Amino acid sequence: MAESMKGLHRSHRCTEVSNKNIGETVTVMGWVQKSRNKGGIIFVDLRDRSGILQIIFEQSDVGTEGFAKAEHLRSEFVIAVTGKVEARSGAVNENLKTGDIEIRANDIRILSESETPPFPIEADSKTKEDLRLKYRFLDLRRPDIQRNLILRSKVTNITRQYLSQEGFLEIETPMLTKSTPEGARDYLVPSRVHPGNFYALPQSPQLFKQLLMCGGYDRYFQIVKCFRDEDLRADRQPEFTQIDMEMSFVDVDDVIKINEGLIKKMFKECIGVDVELPIQRMTYAEAMERFGSDKPDTRFGMELKNVTELVKDCGFGVFSQAIQNGGSVRGINAKGQGSMPRKKIDGLTDYAKDFGAKGLAYLSINEDGTYKSSFAKFMTDEELKSLVNAMEGEAGDLLFFAADNDDTVFAVLGNLRLEIARNLDLLNKDEYKFLWVTEFPLLEYSEEEDRYVAKHHPFTMPLDEDIHMLDTDPGKVRAKAYDIVLNGTEIGGGSVRIYQSDIQEKMFQVLGLTKEEAYERFGFLLNAFKYGVPPHAGLAFGLDRLIMLMAKEDSIRDVIAFPKVKDASCLMTEAPGTVDDKQLDELGIAIEEAENK
Ligand code: AMO
Ligand code: AMP
Repeated sequence: MAESMKGLHRSHRCTEVSNKNIGETVTVMGWVQKSRNKGGIIFVDLRDRSGILQIIFEQSDVGTEGFAKAEHLRSEFVIAVTGKVEARSGAVNENLKTGDIEIRANDIRILSESETPPFPIEADSKTKEDLRLKYRFLDLRRPDIQRNLILRSKVTNITRQYLSQEGFLEIETPMLTKSTPEGARDYLVPSRVHPGNFYALPQSPQLFKQLLMCGGYDRYFQIVKCFRDEDLRADRQPEFTQIDMEMSFVDVDDVIKINEGLIKKMFKECIGVDVELPIQRMTYAEAMERFGSDKPDTRFGMELKNVTELVKDCGFGVFSQAIQNGGSVRGINAKGQGSMPRKKIDGLTDYAKDFGAKGLAYLSINEDGTYKSSFAKFMTDEELKSLVNAMEGEAGDLLFFAADNDDTVFAVLGNLRLEIARNLDLLNKDEYKFLWVTEFPLLEYSEEEDRYVAKHHPFTMPLDEDIHMLDTDPGKVRAKAYDIVLNGTEIGGGSVRIYQSDIQEKMFQVLGLTKEEAYERFGFLLNAFKYGVPPHAGLAFGLDRLIMLMAKEDSIRDVIAFPKVKDASCLMTEAPGTVDDKQLDELGIAIEEAENK
């Protein structure tokens, strides 16, 4: 039977009790981690979010009734214990913060009983994630999830402190709104009052924060939920959280400086890591050229080398043909991997094919200076030698080459580089390598839509020196857009915004939007811009990704209290679900059975 809390007050969390409290009487409450009955003496490990504390029950202290209760305890019972803090009678447990003390109970209440949980509540759980997520309320009790959520709270707390000190105002923006221009699919909410009309859940507060700048708030931030209906991956959720900010009267450097300050404080105060400022900056073009990625992991080298010039006339058709077709040939050097078995190389070739490779050419350099290679026979000794030289190849190295259009070559080698690093265990989670990637292209060509689309969003400012190319060569225009990358993950992104109507109109033109269409979609913003708009710029961090890396987790699900799984469902609540016909009627919505389902 569940006992009441009447007259009881918790004096400490479990690990707030220490050897400084020896001799004092304390009251602690929590869950039974485990209990061991050694005849006349019962040991209980009591757990709360702070950790574990050992309790000792003996009949002489706790009385017959109390001892009977202690005998009845099972895992996950919720109890309150009052007792005296003593030095540990048995061996000190070095693994526990409270390993040198114990509580000699003189009173116990069983506040709540528990059925046997479907999996043990413990760190480094071996339980399958699906089961953990179905019983997330139990999973949340595990120390690693608790540590992650406590870290998350600390980070948001410090963010609020820092940004407030820097003169930012925390302002909320609507969740029921119109479609925003971040480019993913929207989640829609039907309107009862306006049948046939829908709100969109915001993909980000982008337009509202720009309107706040028009409203004169000059430094805004918000820790805010965003919704994007896109295919999920380990670092994506349909609803996720941004640390979102916008500033007036600034350019790129101002935004970068404020955010570097935030990162420094966050990492120092939350996980004790010193981030050296300024953070390295690299243009998008350089990032692609050296790493084949706009979010390079700079914890290791294995950089791409462009060997197009060297091999353009060589006898290997795969290379020369790709170059004739306007493509390139680039390579990476897997240092010391020359003895990689053929099977593994074939595995990497299959991996490369996932990124569009038609094949993967390799060359390993034997200790005696000869080569083992998939293409050496097509080249002269001279050609091979200069290729190996260009790749800084030494005995024992393994070189990989991709020949294709630039986009494919970058995708293939950029990903291959990461895969090899993962296989070789080169990725150290204790190391934090930050990088600003700047000067992103303003536009990218969408084959699907047969037009240019904004790479960031349509309000992103071109680089001053590139504006003139908007008419002549829009694909070449670079933007005042920047991402912040940590260990190969994009943890944030932002841009300077267009605030001049002539540039904005030109931008819409390039995107193939008529003035009418632009007004229909973004009229409220364009109208606001008619009445005095300050130059402004901003950035948003993906909070979940940031915490994932700080916590050294592999998935953002481990740093979100109630995450969704790959098909965007919640295994615990079973959302999304069907609704009553009455609810649908009110919304004027009828469900058609999908064919072939
Ligand atoms: P962007 O679209 O780059 O910019 O988003 C900012 C950051 O949010 C994170 N993020 C995600 N995290 C988890 N799950 C997702 N599905 C997901 N999508 C994005 C990423 C990303 O860097 N309004 C602009 C910001 C601005 O220009 O100020 C924006 O939303 O870490
Ligand atoms: P083949 O002559 O088609 O047998 O190819 C010889 C070698 O070139 C094989 O190792 C292929 O995997 C490799 N190869 C084929 N296409 C490409 C490509 N686009 N880029 C790099 N290597 C390739």
